Amino acid sequence: MPTVADIRAAEETITMLTAYDAPTAELVERAGIDAILVGDSMGNAVLGHDTTLPVTTEEVASRTAAVSRATDEALVVADMPFLSVGVSEAESIENAGRMVKEAGADAVKLESGPHTVSLTERLVELGIPVMAHLGLTPQRVNQLGGYGRQGTTEEAATEIAELAVAHEEAGAFSLVLEHVPANLAGAITDELSTPTIGIGAGSDCDGQVLVITDVIGLGDWSPPFSRQFGDVRGEITSAVEAYKEAVESGEFPAEEHSETVEEVEDVY
Ligand code: KIV
Ligand code: NA
Repeated sequence: MPTVADIRAAEETITMLTAYDAPTAELVERAGIDAILVGDSMGNAVLGHDTTLPVTTEEVASRTAAVSRATDEALVVADMPFLSVGVSEAESIENAGRMVKEAGADAVKLESGPHTVSLTERLVELGIPVMAHLGLTPQRVNQLGGYGRQGTTEEAATEIAELAVAHEEAGAFSLVLEHVPANLAGAITDELSTPTIGIGAGSDCDGQVLVITDVIGLGDWSPPFSRQFGDVRGEITSAVEAYKEAVESGEFPAEEHSETVEEVEDVY
């Protein structure tokens, strides 16, 4: 059972995927994935939003609880949604604490920046393990003006590298690096003693993470750095079409799906 200590000390490549519901989490765990991120990517992936910004603490807590109930091996990491942390320390601790106390998360992930260094330290001090997240931080989409690659200038790369070290020193047990140059991710991975988990960050990270709906082919769009390993859209479409056809033709429900009970014969 990977704990944050196991992840921190992992010798082998760490595998992480998002999941937002019990049946998916169960399958992800059964496949042997080390860590499940209940990402705020649920906003786009399953809640029908265009960005992650509208996702609430309530929604992540509810989905995290579902994932926790369905798993016992994988490390469950709850993603702290936009403005659930960073507004005030007390509120940040309360919201992060909810994920552990009420929803059963093993750790939380914070989209990180200069403002999360001391908060990370405080959460870790209180017993809430923190996964940091640098590079592209989609909650800042309005600031960034899009979802482009980050850390592409020396100045920007240096800032990310320094923040990576600052969050490790603050006690983060691992670091997600999203959509940064592979050589920057490689350099940060060499520098840190805690593991890096990349998404769109090349192959030199200590682990990889992707969004489950992209991996299984449930979404209708996925970023160029992702890969579709399955065709769940195709599976759902053919199952639904087959159901519709069977109902319309009268082939379903068949005799084996129905029951006749003598006692109710005379209601009219
Ligand atoms: O919300 C999410 O799925 C994430 C991963 C892409 C790291 O933050
Ligand atoms: Na996220």
